[in-house]
Amino acid sequence: MIVCANFKANKTRQETQAYMAVVESFVSANDISDTIIVFPPYTALEHLSRNVLIGVQNAYPVRNGAYTGEIALEQLEEFDIKTILIGHSERRHIIGETQEQIAAKFRFFAEQGFVIVYCVGEPLAIREAGHDALMDYIDKQFDGIDLNYSDLIIAYEPVWAIGTGLTPSNSDIEQVHRELRSKTAAPLLYGGSVKTDNAGEIMALENVDGVLVGSAALSANDFCEMIVQASELNG
Ligand code: 13P
Repeated sequence: MIVCANFKANKTRQETQAYMAVVESFVSANDISDTIIVFPPYTALEHLSRNVLIGVQNAYPVRNGAYTGEIALEQLEEFDIKTILIGHSERRHIIGETQEQIAAKFRFFAEQGFVIVYCVGEPLAIREAGHDALMDYIDKQFDGIDLNYSDLIIAYEPVWAIGTGLTPSNSDIEQVHRELRSKTAAPLLYGGSVKTDNAGEIMALENVDGVLVGSAALSANDFCEMIVQASELNG
């Protein structure tokens, strides 16, 4: 299983250090073999971890240069960051990233050999338009994306489920993941209102290989509880 925490614009550097201390010691004390990834804000990046992968929530697809307000490959290399989140719905819908920009970012970081957690997911109006509309929408989010990339992880995150407490039914998650599985061999995560009381059940679904968790992962103890639930599903 793959268990990821996306902090978004939450936590200071100090809070992140305290959080990582809890999660790292939990992972080693419990011999966790699952892949654990934490995406802190840029200001908290450092050589934080031995047994937990640290990724960035975004970066600009260049080595360095005149891109005010962005960070790029050179700044990530300083901290040995080789994992990136691309295509998150908050970047698509709030920041306004286009599929073209997202695909360019994907190409650049794939060429650099990054682990890419690539997010797709539909807004509510598309979900309400039915399954075919939903899959057409998601297909367009794969424009310019190499689904055979070896270090690819896909996260299915319905926009209407993010931060709302709403989740699709288990069978709806399975239906989308089954279709995603027919397109790619990459591990498939579910994200959107995952919490300690539904994480185990969701990870046990067919073609669900892990979870990408926002608000409920801000508590280190709750995140550790979800890691336990993932590890219980092994073997
Ligand atoms: P929530 O878990 O807060 O719904 O956020 C999910 C998400 O966007 C993770 O990337």
